[in-house]
Amino acid sequence: MESTSDGWIKVPFTARSLLSLFACLLIISESSAARHGDPTIIQEADPNSRFICKGQLGDFPACTCIEQTSEISCINAQFVEADVFLHINGHYKSINKITFHGNNFQDLPDRPLFGTTKYPGLHHLNLSANYIVNLNSNALKSIPNIRVLDLSNNEIVLRPQDTNFLSHTPLLTHLYLRRAFTSSVNRTRQFELMMNLFTNAKLDNLQVLDLSYNYLSSVPYALACPFPSLNKLDLRQNMLKTISMNTTCLSGVNTIDLSRNSFRYLDEAFRQKFANYLNPETLIMRNTFFCDCNSADYIQWIRSTNVIRERNLLVCSRASPQNFIGSRLVEVPVHKLDCETPLVAEAPSTMSGSLISVFLALLLSQVLVAV
Ligand SMILES: *[C@@H]1O[C@H](CO)[C@@H](O)[C@H](O)[C@H]1NC(C)=O
Ligand SMILES: *[C@@H]1O[C@H](CO)[C@@H](O)[C@H](O)[C@H]1NC(C)=O
Ligand SMILES: *[C@@H]1O[C@H](CO)[C@@H](O)[C@H](O)[C@H]1NC(C)=O
Repeated sequence: MESTSDGWIKVPFTARSLLSLFACLLIISESSAARHGDPTIIQEADPNSRFICKGQLGDFPACTCIEQTSEISCINAQFVEADVFLHINGHYKSINKITFHGNNFQDLPDRPLFGTTKYPGLHHLNLSANYIVNLNSNALKSIPNIRVLDLSNNEIVLRPQDTNFLSHTPLLTHLYLRRAFTSSVNRTRQFELMMNLFTNAKLDNLQVLDLSYNYLSSVPYALACPFPSLNKLDLRQNMLKTISMNTTCLSGVNTIDLSRNSFRYLDEAFRQKFANYLNPETLIMRNTFFCDCNSADYIQWIRSTNVIRERNLLVCSRASPQNFIGSRLVEVPVHKLDCETPLVAEAPSTMSGSLISVFLALLLSQVLVAV
């Protein structure tokens, strides 16, 4: 072993050890693939051929068609052309449910997805995880009766010409947009287009809107206003520190899930202009709350309000003094909280983050040495 000038110790790192590292990674990734169950494997192992699709989809083991329930699904089929939806036509009289998940379409077509064929019985369309970027306003035209639309896990970038995408499906009750939008474009502009999309759609029956996992640090003020029947708004796993919404439009809403956002405390605007106008038990609020000498107001408010569901489960994730870490917000003795320990400085998450980057830097330097 030798020591370099900057103090790093060079471990002999041969091509062989590099190979065994890759072998390890391969084993890990394969075993996790097995755990998640590759549907194509299940399909091949299934001696039952009842579910093979008719027509061209029959060539793809990743596609299953269940006539009894009128369901078609192609999962991880690697399709790249949205023309594949046309292959369904002519083979099935009625279809209730279509799932295309784990493909790579990029663009939905600027014509009805199923061409000129109408599917009045189609209630459930699942287009999740297909790398969809562009929606196009005509894509959902021939399926007027869908109730459930799942566009989660895509890379959607809205354009002005897409804002009638939802205008042909007035009966929608559930709209899933979990981790659906790419975060690399101007959010202000995307919010404007999203509100146009929602307003144009006139979704008077929409009950559930899922915008979880979208890295949102704010939401449009009028987000709920286009949806008079909205009951549940899912904003889990975003980056909200506070929230400002038109509460007049939330009068029918009974669940707003704000879990795993960036709330550290609940500021006055959150309490007085938002939460106090909501129905009882509406908010689900599991976050990394901070408890210190500045926390009395929001902690007292949590104790006094009936708007937070399961408020007994909320705890001080960081606290000064530290012995109150893990204390329930409804129980922590507020007068004993102080500001002796700074809560922001010693962030365990950045700690492990920097450990990982040190490890990566080490690994990289060894790879470079080996080359
Ligand atoms: C859409 O399909 C995916 C993959 O099968 C599934 O995990 C997800 O729950 C489905 N969405 C809905 C709304 O059923
Ligand atoms: C984002 O878009 C808005 C409205 O179109 C504009 O006012 C703003 O300057 C843009 N922000 C950035 C960072 O480009
Ligand atoms: C909130 O929404 C209601 C109902 O749509 C509307 O009348 C009101 O003007 C909105 N308030 C604000 C401040 O935008």
